[in-house]
Amino acid sequence: MAQRQTARSVSARKGGDPLVMLTAYDFPTARMAEDAGADILLVGDSLAMVVLGHPDTLSVTVDEMVHHCKAVSRAAQRALVVGDLPFLSYEAGPAQALASAGRLVKEGGVRAVKLEGGREVLPQVQALLDAGIPVMGHVGLTPQRLARLGGFRVQGRDSATAQAILDDALALSRAGCFAVVLECVPAALARVVTAALDAPTIGIGAGAQCDGQVLVLHDVLGLFEGLRPTFVKRYAELGAAGREALAAYAAEVRQGVFPGPEHGFAMDELLLDTLTV
Ligand code: KIV
Ligand code: NA
Repeated sequence: MAQRQTARSVSARKGGDPLVMLTAYDFPTARMAEDAGADILLVGDSLAMVVLGHPDTLSVTVDEMVHHCKAVSRAAQRALVVGDLPFLSYEAGPAQALASAGRLVKEGGVRAVKLEGGREVLPQVQALLDAGIPVMGHVGLTPQRLARLGGFRVQGRDSATAQAILDDALALSRAGCFAVVLECVPAALARVVTAALDAPTIGIGAGAQCDGQVLVLHDVLGLFEGLRPTFVKRYAELGAAGREALAAYAAEVRQGVFPGPEHGFAMDELLLDTLTV
């Protein structure tokens, strides 16, 4: 088995072979992603949308994140498992961030955490790093700030917001984040940010010049059939395949085709004569 990925080994891949990150939310998805060769498994707060059925990521709790982090951590043998700090679990300050991250690490078993935001969350980032918890940054489209950003849309198209994204990413890298996610920013801006940072950038909707890529597993597999952002490439249609398989099961039950004799257990039926009703 290949060596276990750590925050340090991920950082060292800056400018090298592209990092592969996928989200995972439970044992089977983590196993699938790791068997596929993912370097990093992110227990994303996208959990809220693709697994729990919420319209956005805002309502997922630390308790729910811990529950899913546990399952992913049990499955991972080689990949670095990163847990997302959910909305309002770190904004209040370093103490809150430390308490929340501590739960994902100690109870959930993750080896690193991710939080959204730039310079405004540096005190939290610093506190986590001081405590020995590796931190992944996340700038550009930050879904937890959906209300302020005005929807799921590309960020950094004008020079003021592009500069702000660059400054935020630089600040996170200089603070010691081991990687920074760039979500939904123009490819040209992601290229400039990637060149400027010591930390590897991991893009989603940020072009091919980042140091790595991340996608939501349920999007890749066609298991999430709600929002379909343009930056998603579906490599399978497991939602459709699953429905077809389940419909075949339902039809066979109704037709008396399933279960067949091969799915059951035999006995010496003479013994039935000994039974009294
Ligand atoms: O929650 C998530 O899935 C994420 C990735 C898209 C980066 O934060
Ligand atoms: Na997230």
